[in-house]
Amino acid sequence: MAQAMLERVNAAAAAALPRIGGQVEVALILGTGLGGLAERIADARHIPYAEIPGLAVATAPGHAGRFVTGTLSGRRVVAMQGRLHLYEGWSPADIALPVYLMRRMGAGRLVVTNAAGGLNPGFRPGDVMLIEDHINLTGTNPLVGPNAAELGLRFPDMSRAYDPALRAAALAAAARAGVALQRGIYAGVLGPVLETSAERRFCRMAGGDAVGMSTVMDVIAAVHAGFSVLGLSAISNAATGGPEQQPDTIEAVLANAAAAGGRIERLLDELLPDL
Ligand code: HPA
Repeated sequence: MAQAMLERVNAAAAAALPRIGGQVEVALILGTGLGGLAERIADARHIPYAEIPGLAVATAPGHAGRFVTGTLSGRRVVAMQGRLHLYEGWSPADIALPVYLMRRMGAGRLVVTNAAGGLNPGFRPGDVMLIEDHINLTGTNPLVGPNAAELGLRFPDMSRAYDPALRAAALAAAARAGVALQRGIYAGVLGPVLETSAERRFCRMAGGDAVGMSTVMDVIAAVHAGFSVLGLSAISNAATGGPEQQPDTIEAVLANAAAAGGRIERLLDELLPDL
């Protein structure tokens, strides 16, 4: 299994690296509401996931399914325009593969974005949350199985999974850009159903400030691969699970994620030169 992953990474790298136009510095995983950021990458080269052997193809709404490499705010970047989720039926390893691939492209820092429900009653739809830590509630992990030392350590330390220096840089950039930032803990669940109200109260009691269906597989693989990680959540709906809880619609989730996404774009414009 781990050997299989190393072979998958090698095969994907052999196909992708000749097409990226030179090494990159920063990798971006663009979640719901953020796909538009990839349109602003200069000197862009596009590599559809379907053209890389072994890569899964994104199916979620608003997820284009390709790598975009080029220059953004003066940095050489690779963006995943469209991410992969467990609820689409992909395995944890399928989700990890593009993360290892972006490390092979030369990136040392990873910015991961997502849409998430606000468990914290102080959050409003449209807010942006700086992820300080996560709780993996999916019940799975991309590193299960034999470990390939070429990819990373057997027992990666996750005590600072979201790099403290990058978090400080993000807070400073947000202040300069005039973007209000919430801070908190991301609870990662399997989906595809939205949580019951009891589950949302459970996630809150467990320490979560936001809940979503992505990110934790990607970040585990990223830490394993040696990335410094920064995470940002677009709060797309109130998910407190209390008597005030309203039913969620995908339309409202997408609209609020796009509103928060605009703020995340302004923040990243300010932050990327510091990364
Ligand atoms: N729960 C899980 N995932 C989500 C939510 C939510 O409330 N909002 C956006 N993604």
